[in-house]
Amino acid sequence: MSETWSIGDTVVTIRPIARSDLALEQAFVEGLSTHTGYLRLLSARRPTLEEMEHFTHIDPAREFALIATVDSDGRERQIGVARYVKTSTEGTAEFAIVLSDSWQGRGLGRRLLVGLLSAAKRDGLQRMTGATLWENRGMQALARKLGFKIERDPDLATLRNLVLDLTEWSA
Ligand SMILES: CC(C)(COP(=O)(O)OP(=O)(O)OC[C@H]1O[C@@H](n2cnc3c(N)ncnc32)[C@H](O)[C@@H]1OP(=O)(O)O)[C@@H](O)C(=O)NCCC(=O)NCCS
Repeated sequence: MSETWSIGDTVVTIRPIARSDLALEQAFVEGLSTHTGYLRLLSARRPTLEEMEHFTHIDPAREFALIATVDSDGRERQIGVARYVKTSTEGTAEFAIVLSDSWQGRGLGRRLLVGLLSAAKRDGLQRMTGATLWENRGMQALARKLGFKIERDPDLATLRNLVLDLTEWSA
């Protein structure tokens, strides 16, 4: 289930993550700016190796992840990832997405998230949720355009909760 997409002269491949992608994921995470890492993890810390192993060695019964890659001097290079994990609420999953800094604002986030939501629908999920910082205008703009409702978090003033009814959603 791999697709390609051309942006300018660059061909972007979007495909499910594989266990063999750990080195790609590590290089990708290490290349993120502090600001982008902060927006993704909602904290200034960097993911540990153990967490990165969890990111690539996913449990297909409860998780799904798509990565975006480009060719860089004959080697595959990761430029983005979007994932969901099913929550304890039946039919619901929580998503996260992050792109390399130089790939932000070029339509890739929309493309990856639409791919992820389509996969979630095929997987029989009914509801997709996410959480983002109140100042993350880019994430909120993308979520709004895809039909998410944006709600204030009842406990944390700095957070916005994103909620999409997948039964009403189509790509
Ligand atoms: C948030 C993120 C995934 C969005 O992806 P992106 O590729 O930058 O966004 P896109 O270029 O696909 O934009 C999607 C739409 O949102 C709009 N948009 C994006 N950023 C925007 C901003 N800062 N302000 C207003 N609108 C914005 C675009 O105009 C576009 O609208 P269109 O489809 O009608 O043209 C990406 O910027 C990113 O990885 N940011 C850092 C990590 C992060 O914040 N992750 C989310 C944590 S919850």
